Amino acid sequence: MDRLDKIRLPRHIAIIMDGNGRWAKNHSLGRIAGHREGAVSVRKVVEACRRIGIPYLTLYAFSSENWSRPEREVSALMTLLERYLKSEVKVMMKNNIRLLTIGDTSALPQTVRTILGDAIGKTAGNTAMTLILALNYGSHDEILEAVRKLAKEVRQGEIDAEEITKERFSDYLYTKGIPDPDLLIRTSGEYRLSNFLMWQMAYTEFYFTDTLWPEFREEQLVEAILEYQRRERRFGLTSDQVQKRS
Ligand code: FPP
Repeated sequence: MDRLDKIRLPRHIAIIMDGNGRWAKNHSLGRIAGHREGAVSVRKVVEACRRIGIPYLTLYAFSSENWSRPEREVSALMTLLERYLKSEVKVMMKNNIRLLTIGDTSALPQTVRTILGDAIGKTAGNTAMTLILALNYGSHDEILEAVRKLAKEVRQGEIDAEEITKERFSDYLYTKGIPDPDLLIRTSGEYRLSNFLMWQMAYTEFYFTDTLWPEFREEQLVEAILEYQRRERRFGLTSDQVQKRS
């Protein structure tokens, strides 16, 4: 942690937590045990981000495609989420962390929705860090929903098609008001975006690691941030232009 340049920290880290199943297999355990250990990593990484001073952390906890997994696994993931929320609200209050979600949470079981609503309400005034859980989230759905809404408003004459700027479009997404991720981390040696924050990650730095999510803890997070700090973000400019600006 001391090795990090405190001035050049990413403002927003997004993580695709992958490899729980493989971790379980490597330990001759069932997939659900892998998710349980993955939930421990979630706690550790949230804590570490708070300590390091990362203002926004988004975790891909359940994609809109994850419903197709065996029923038992889906239900175990919901139970884990429920337990996590129940036990972590206190920690979030203590650490001044605000909870938000992105995705269509209306499809989640009622018990989860109630606890989520409660946790979001209780933590709404917290200011040190924002933890965003992507739940029943999919980028295609998010973008299509925004397009539908905008098309309706154009048809009703509420806005002009020419007025649809990048900034305005962003306001129709779940992530309205949240800065775009600076760093995306994907664990377990997979190199895909998997329908995650596709609009928001146009200029995000990608970091892939072979580490399986249950083994991704503070040390691995620090490594990822160090790698981010070694890179030069050019946003389409030349290297010279970037150096002159800084
Ligand atoms: C990917 O591993 C992980 C998931 C689909 C879900 C992520 C869930 C957790 C980390 C646990 C609970 C979450 C919270 C917020 C408490 P995989 O099953 O795809 O692994 P595999 O590719 O090795 O099979």
